[in-house]
Amino acid sequence: MNLDLRGKRALVCGASQGLGAACARQLASQGASVVVLARTADKLKDVCGNLSTDQGQRHGFLAVDANDAVALVEAVTTEKEQGGAFQVWVNNTGGPAPGPAHLAEPAAYAKAFSQHLISAQSLLQVLLPGMREAGYGRILNVLSTSVKQPIANLGVSNTMRAAVANWAKTLAGELAADGITVNNVLPGMTRTARLDSLIQQIAQSSGRSVEQVTKGMLGNIPAGRFAEPEEFANTVGFLASPAAAFINGTSIAVDGGSTGCM
Ligand SMILES: NC(=O)c1ccc[n+]([C@@H]2O[C@H](COP(=O)([O-])OP(=O)(O)OC[C@H]3O[C@@H](n4cnc5c(N)ncnc54)[C@H](OP(=O)(O)O)[C@@H]3O)[C@@H](O)[C@H]2O)c1
Repeated sequence: MNLDLRGKRALVCGASQGLGAACARQLASQGASVVVLARTADKLKDVCGNLSTDQGQRHGFLAVDANDAVALVEAVTTEKEQGGAFQVWVNNTGGPAPGPAHLAEPAAYAKAFSQHLISAQSLLQVLLPGMREAGYGRILNVLSTSVKQPIANLGVSNTMRAAVANWAKTLAGELAADGITVNNVLPGMTRTARLDSLIQQIAQSSGRSVEQVTKGMLGNIPAGRFAEPEEFANTVGFLASPAAAFINGTSIAVDGGSTGCM
């Protein structure tokens, strides 16, 4: 099975911690040169400094806010001009704040639309020409199992994930002939800062202890545990590789069997 990404460049967004950072480590371990992107320069520098270089990879980082589409396009365009085109793109950013759909302010939906979809479309237009020229593109959207089954108390997130998933599915059909695949990878509950803060917020709003909330969540996962970020990143690494060339337009859950639909 060919998992070799030597000679390829990967842009990994939302990569200063959590799932994005794990994806960056995985892609680098497969030989890719990786540029990690998020807002916090110090953390990005740390992530970048710990990526594998044993196959001659050259890594870098971009500190930019995905909510600022103009700055995002400028930063990635400059990086592309100076360092070369990207063939792999992990489209990832922070999740919207939790809460019921009907209570969310319209502005919360607008912000999430900007951060999740406008930023993605803006980056797509920067990255696409290079992928087409290479005849190789792998676009991996980090979404959520809510693409398949809405999650209670994540109203804005559920809405946005469905929008991005449909954007991705449409693109998959449009771009396949150019050797570009577009897939969604859906994390179940995975041990990252995002999960810790969700548990804290649920505990606070429900008056239960962190231990009780954690136990309740684990009870919904047939595997009986949270995922490790590396388990998610393994799936991204495979889908980014030449071996996954015929997998396109899918949404793959990495959730220990917790999603209640097929
Ligand atoms: N972990 C889970 O159990 C789980 C389950 C389902 C879905 N998800 C979703 O999967 C995605 C990644 O999850 P995670 O657990 O790795 O989250 P995380 O630990 O909160 O990490 C989010 C990453 O996105 C970056 N980011 C946030 N806002 C940004 C912005 N405006 N512009 C640029 N970068 C931004 C953060 O870095 P900076 O703060 O430095 O910008 C960080 O690197 C999220 O959308 C999350 O909702 C996670």
